[in-house]
Amino acid sequence: MAISSNTERGAWNSRLGFVLAAAGSAVGLGNIWKFPFEVEAGGGAAFVLLYLFFCFVLCFPVMVTEIAIGRKTKKNAIGAFDALGFPKWNFIGKIGILAGIVILSFYNVVAGWAFGYFFEMVTANFEIGAQFGDYTKDVFKIGLYSIFFMVATSFIVSKGVSSGIERAAKILMPTLIIMIVGILIYALTLPNAFTGVKFYLVPEFSELNLRTIGGALRQAFFSLSLGMGALITYGSYLSRKENIVTSAAMITIFDVGIAFIAGLMLFPIVAYSTGGDMANIEGGAGLIFVALPGVFETLGTTLGAVMGGAFFLLLSFAALTSTVSLLEVPVAYIVDEHKKTRKNAVIISAVIIFVLGLPSLVANGYSAFFSNFITYVGANTSTDFMTFFGHLADVLLLLGGTLIVTFAAYIWKKENLHDEIATGYEGYHDSINKKLIDFAISYLCPVLLGILFVLVVLSNFFGISIIN
Ligand code: TRP
Repeated sequence: MAISSNTERGAWNSRLGFVLAAAGSAVGLGNIWKFPFEVEAGGGAAFVLLYLFFCFVLCFPVMVTEIAIGRKTKKNAIGAFDALGFPKWNFIGKIGILAGIVILSFYNVVAGWAFGYFFEMVTANFEIGAQFGDYTKDVFKIGLYSIFFMVATSFIVSKGVSSGIERAAKILMPTLIIMIVGILIYALTLPNAFTGVKFYLVPEFSELNLRTIGGALRQAFFSLSLGMGALITYGSYLSRKENIVTSAAMITIFDVGIAFIAGLMLFPIVAYSTGGDMANIEGGAGLIFVALPGVFETLGTTLGAVMGGAFFLLLSFAALTSTVSLLEVPVAYIVDEHKKTRKNAVIISAVIIFVLGLPSLVANGYSAFFSNFITYVGANTSTDFMTFFGHLADVLLLLGGTLIVTFAAYIWKKENLHDEIATGYEGYHDSINKKLIDFAISYLCPVLLGILFVLVVLSNFFGISIIN
């Protein structure tokens, strides 16, 4: 081989590049499509507080651990465990790559819808919301959009770490921030905006039960892109000069901030369109695709097309930096371990994932078939293939996260983890951060994540609702 594995691997050009790429991975459909509705349904501000607690207390240590493992080994999600000298534990990375493939297979379909909606909005086809069911059954059209999305993702990943992923993040993330802040400011000036904000955030502690608690943790894991080695992979391109703790803090704040703002932007628009009557607001993430187009229509044709187009373009950009990170995980593995070129690794991964996504793509048309399949595998919570994949992914991420911290604390040994974190962070060994991270990875994360993992499995796949 002419090319040494290091040049084929690549590296981030700057810390900002790394933070933006990782924040791009984190900020996605999870933040804008799901988070606002989870907050609203889960108890408003009470849910937000719980979510913040999970992000900073349980998820942040997992993020630091993933990045440190990646940077220490300069390897992919599976190879990292081999490089540390624990090949038996590389099954954690295998679970991770499996989770990534499953997530991207359906995520890409939803991203395709979002992208398709961008065109519907700019051509002022606000009726599309009412026809959402038919829209998703138009396999040919949806298929084209999701092929386009997979090709765009593949193109960015095939360009490599700094000239592909990093460069895309440096363009897309600032654009995303400008768009979301622009729409937010506009939304807050609409009549009844404050009614929407109240609807979003008024704390209802009665809605905080074990189910919403489990939901908050799953959402936090998914949103921060944890538990499947995406951040092991991104960390493997990070320089030893950089401070892992402050980088992880920036990524977490970025992700939580965008999710929170997404709700502040959405609910005032909804409140405006209903004249402040929030009694009949349809809950759930479907609102974005079903109700929102009608909401944009109430702004008038031109303004509606502009705001609606901006919103769905924003959603597509957010999704794109996430699909890039999901694809990069298997690609890095194939490049490192099977010595393929990046381009070939991209083609192999993208084709497999696209084929695996076909059931999600045609889910509506085949729902009878898949509901039988789901009954067969024991899931009783949904008749929807995508939801089933979503549950599967949630479970795999929680399992992966629990195993990664437990591995780092007790198998690799936390002294080694601390030494890696201290590289690029002067004074870490004497800091309070070290004590907090130590406590979290030794006790808090393994125990709480482990318990919640079991509860989520029981409720998702066996219908045993100890959770609520
Ligand atoms: N975090 C993204 C979102 O909120 C999805 C995502 C991208 C992801 N990469 C990941 C989830 C890796 C888990 C693991 O939409």
